[in-house]
Amino acid sequence: MAINKTEKIWHNGKLINWDDATLHVMSHVVNYGSSIFEGVRCYAPPKGPAIFRAPEHAQRLLDSAKIYRMDVEFSRDELVAAFVDVVRVNQVAPCYIRPIVLRGYGQVGVNPLNSPIEVYVVNYEWGKYLGHGGDGVDVCISSWTRLAPNTMPAMAKSGANYMNSQLIKMEAILNGFAEGIALDANGYVSEGSGENVFLVRKGCLMTAPLGNSVLPGITRESVIQLARDMGIQVVEQMIPREMLYIADEVFFTGTAAEITPIWTIDKIRIADGTTGPITKALRDEFYGIVNGTAPDRFGWLTPVPMRQPVGV
Ligand SMILES: Cc1ncc(COP(=O)(O)O)c(C=O)c1O
Repeated sequence: MAINKTEKIWHNGKLINWDDATLHVMSHVVNYGSSIFEGVRCYAPPKGPAIFRAPEHAQRLLDSAKIYRMDVEFSRDELVAAFVDVVRVNQVAPCYIRPIVLRGYGQVGVNPLNSPIEVYVVNYEWGKYLGHGGDGVDVCISSWTRLAPNTMPAMAKSGANYMNSQLIKMEAILNGFAEGIALDANGYVSEGSGENVFLVRKGCLMTAPLGNSVLPGITRESVIQLARDMGIQVVEQMIPREMLYIADEVFFTGTAAEITPIWTIDKIRIADGTTGPITKALRDEFYGIVNGTAPDRFGWLTPVPMRQPVGV
């Protein structure tokens, strides 16, 4: 997907022009991957644009920063206000919001501590990530292992972790699949290159616990909350690879992927190879809330005041 530029980008508390948000090639982040970031969706229900779980995304950004000893001079609420600001100023909704914290131009060498911390918030148009109009996807188990514990922290959403994701994604695409599911260092199901994985077996919803090298996905947490609210049993447990093949339903969750059904894995059809009833029910609930056709009963949406109705 090409990037459609907007007018303004939020940088360290100020709005700057899109074209002025540049970096020196010797910035620490360019050389050593020292960035953390978020991906947030702003929906456009009839009442006006609304950001999905903005405080939770801002908090995860601050958590990632803490793990990497990055001092961010903005609070969770200030970051949420920045998310709202870029959407309001650029008048683009629905959109994707990309907050980034990086180590900029300071000193050479691996030691990151003397390079300045820069905070950016960007927004831009973005549509469906996986699948087409709600169809399921065909995926594979990756030959690449997800980050082993005590190597790259999987709970931090750091730019560098996505070098592993890129290997998973490229391998999948070049082999004709939409996405790859990685196993963890012990061979248990971990996650997709940019999604958490859920399966349904005998009416029970299962997903890997955080100890299996997964990002604590905000959509993951939302789906767990929705499922429990709907009376569906949910367990976080280690999942052997083969349990995916014999599941009744499998789906991805993620800000980009939302809730994407998986129809085949390694060319093995999951149940009858269509979207199952629990996946459907969760999707309907999820889209009902974000599209404004159902009440926001969990308080997931942060409204964005706009000057005029917008569309993309
Ligand atoms: C590796 C990885 N796992 C899981 C997720 C899902 O997380 P979330 O639902 O917060 O977008 C993402 C997307 O951000 C991701 O990149």
